Amino acid sequence: MNTDQLAVLFVCLGNICRSPTAQGVFERRLADSALAGRVHVDSAGTAAYHIGNPPDPRSISTAKAKGYELAHLRARQLSPEDFDRFDFILAMDESNLAHLNGMKPLGCRAEVRLFLHFDADNSHREVPDPYYNGEDSFELVVALVERASDGLIDHLQTLNND
Ligand code: 4NP
Repeated sequence: MNTDQLAVLFVCLGNICRSPTAQGVFERRLADSALAGRVHVDSAGTAAYHIGNPPDPRSISTAKAKGYELAHLRARQLSPEDFDRFDFILAMDESNLAHLNGMKPLGCRAEVRLFLHFDADNSHREVPDPYYNGEDSFELVVALVERASDGLIDHLQTLNND
């Protein structure tokens, strides 16, 4: 696979908490890796509720405290074309994954997976939805996506070495 053309899309329900956090964290960590500037990154929601909105203020502040900027991101809804625009479409939870698999065209470009497949720690299968929960759940989102981002960068680097 030619990593000059790699593209990764993170998907959650609303595209205001988990997937924009994943996008901001992954982009920041990619910038410090050997793949800097070589991977296109985006995020989307399966639902339309928050189209055009910035990330949730709780996601913005939790990420900012760890050095990640999310405030410029705007929510969009997943589209059928995404399956041919991205190499990896990574779901935050099983419900997002089921939605993606229900939309996925046969023979498309994208490999569709749970994002935490790439978390070497393996403590969680899903990134839990923090929207109706407290500050701790936003902290957990950042911690999980940091580890999975590093695992995904390692995986993309192995593709690059093939
Ligand atoms: P996200 O969190 O899927 O991580 O962006 C949610 C955001 C909004 C809603 C649910 C989850 N909502 O019901 O509006």
